[in-house]
Amino acid sequence: MPLANSEPKVHRRKGRHSAGALIRPLVRRLHAYVPGEQPKIRGLIKLNTNENPFPPAPRVFEAIRAATDERLRRYPNPTADLLREKLARFHHCRPENIIVGNGSDELLALATRAFVEPSIDPAPASAAGGGEGAPRAGAEAPNILLRARNARSSASVRAIQGASRPSRSVVQFFTPSYSLYPVLAEIQGGVSNPVPLHADFSLPSVGELRRGGRWDFRAALTYVTAPNAPSGRGYSTRELDALCHAHRGAVVLDEAYVDFADENAMALGLRHRHVLVARTFSKAYSLCFLRVGYLVGHADLIAALQKIRDSYNVNGLGQVAALATLANLPYYRNNFRRIRATRERLSRELAALGFRVYPSQTNFVLARPPEWPAGAWLEKLRGRKILVRWFDLPGVRDCLRITIGTDGEIDALLEAVRRILRVNR
Ligand SMILES: Cc1ncc(COP(=O)(O)O)c(C=O)c1O
Repeated sequence: MPLANSEPKVHRRKGRHSAGALIRPLVRRLHAYVPGEQPKIRGLIKLNTNENPFPPAPRVFEAIRAATDERLRRYPNPTADLLREKLARFHHCRPENIIVGNGSDELLALATRAFVEPSIDPAPASAAGGGEGAPRAGAEAPNILLRARNARSSASVRAIQGASRPSRSVVQFFTPSYSLYPVLAEIQGGVSNPVPLHADFSLPSVGELRRGGRWDFRAALTYVTAPNAPSGRGYSTRELDALCHAHRGAVVLDEAYVDFADENAMALGLRHRHVLVARTFSKAYSLCFLRVGYLVGHADLIAALQKIRDSYNVNGLGQVAALATLANLPYYRNNFRRIRATRERLSRELAALGFRVYPSQTNFVLARPPEWPAGAWLEKLRGRKILVRWFDLPGVRDCLRITIGTDGEIDALLEAVRRILRVNR
């Protein structure tokens, strides 16, 4: 017999409160992070989430297979000791300077939790989405933050700076950069301070930031994506050092893409007591699926993060795979060379087709396409089974971000671009 209403009968009884009323207002209002699409369409060329086009080293597969034995019923090492030892040797520091996480995303969340005081305002004045000030209206608590809520984020920050505990709630980052940062700030009940990069995505100098008056050198936590995402722009260790030097709060240098760059700033995490460097096995080491990242920095900061993580935050197979990766670095270094070579070719060929291509130190390029808006290009390419990324955010809305795939995938992308330009001209 056909059902009049196929909705299941569970959860339909009217109680005194709706289920939503159980949820903290902060969580109800939260704008969740939107990860890149992981489509199930067959034959799609996926150039949208900066995954590595090459598989892990054969020895890594072997190590994972060998570890899928009766060990699976046991908990993994809670502090990833062996992996921290190997990483310490690799980075010339001590295991106490390293924490491993369930991807670097988890570690960014832990840093936010450890360093950022929730503001007394129940609805923080944050600018979710990595854009500039996106204040939302709300009710509740009359306090200095609340009064600032309807102003731009930076004005909110200035309001806090005038309060008795300056900047303890401020999470600061450049825009555009990784759009997870404002979400983490919001979850923590902190206050985002998004400050624009230069139009070419270069880093403002300390002097420019001081003169601009929006950057908060006492922010509880500052995130710098280096090289930058989504632009791909690289920053010199010298300019990052000058920026770190000027700060009093914690600084996280998010080096998710640094293996594809000319320089890295690991030395700053080991030199400055307030600087942490975030790395991941996801991008350069082809291990997105297993979720392994790590932070390097002063032992006191690392110890604080160790206190607040989940007991078994890094799964056993992830630890095994990361260890095997470190034992096979020449394989990966060869892949970095191939990806960089393909990146330069793609940049050249897109430029010849009329794209404005920004210089990249990562495994993706940001490019402004000709003829149609970037959102339209996204759809046109999708129609030809090629998926790239488009961010509807200030500063990058007219661009596409294209992950470097295999040479064959990039050939297919370029062919699709040529056809789109020809067909529509
Ligand atoms: C700038 C940046 N940081 C961190 C991450 C997180 O990487 P994972 O959690 O896979 O280590 C990403 C992923 O896209 C990223 O783009």
